[in-house]
Amino acid sequence: MKNIILLGPPGAGKGTQADLICNLCSIPKISTGDMLREAVASGSDFGKKVSHILDTGGLVSDEIIGSLIQDRLTKPDCVNGSLFDGVPRTLGQATELASMGIEFTHVIEINVDDQMIVNRMSGRRVHPGSGKNYHIDFNPPLNEGIDDETGDSLIQREDDKPETVLKRLTVYHDQTKPLSEFYINESSNSDLKYFTVDGSQSVEKVFQDISSQI
Ligand code: AP5
Repeated sequence: MKNIILLGPPGAGKGTQADLICNLCSIPKISTGDMLREAVASGSDFGKKVSHILDTGGLVSDEIIGSLIQDRLTKPDCVNGSLFDGVPRTLGQATELASMGIEFTHVIEINVDDQMIVNRMSGRRVHPGSGKNYHIDFNPPLNEGIDDETGDSLIQREDDKPETVLKRLTVYHDQTKPLSEFYINESSNSDLKYFTVDGSQSVEKVFQDISSQI
């Protein structure tokens, strides 16, 4: 059983590494960002409610995230564990996940400095159907602007505008970064393994560093 949390700033490469780790460990990815974007794309009332928060780089409430996760964990594919990509993002969410009885085995923090993140975001392209990420220079699709698997067109995310990226970084430093200390403390009192990786390296090297520890 592996329940893994991926921590790190926006654009650190969490989604990119999440896909590789899920393949390696045969566990599903639980990405609250992907779930929220799907809701927005569906045009549902819930999607309309959260759309502005995503576009402007704020955080959706802890209550909403708690119920999304609770619901997702009832699906049978989570039986051998899950990879939590971009959740928890606040101390409130971390407490809520703990109260659901999830026993985390690994917390992996991917570190990348803010300037590199701003540069990365401008080149990101996404497949809206699967959430798969590319970068025009560092991780390009086989054919420009086209998803490798489906042949669908890739898009740029609304929240990858430079001013929104800066807002997301501020939110990250204020509300999410304190989780490092929270999980370092947890790891000293339990079997949880917490480690950091240098996310400024190539995608392959970051994955090598992660896979050697899980
Ligand atoms: P979410 O989708 O989770 O966004 P994020 O955490 O800001 O992370 P990103 O998806 O932007 O980046 P990433 O770390 O996954 O990097 P990626 O692999 O794409 O959340 C979006 C929004 O939803 C939030 O702002 C919030 O509003 C809401 N939300 C979501 N979860 C929430 C929660 N729990 N609570 C409240 N609100 C929530 O890589 C980035 C780019 O770099 C790509 O182009 C990639 O190809 C490239 N790249 C990756 N690795 C490398 C590398 N090693 N070298 C060079 N390029 C690389």
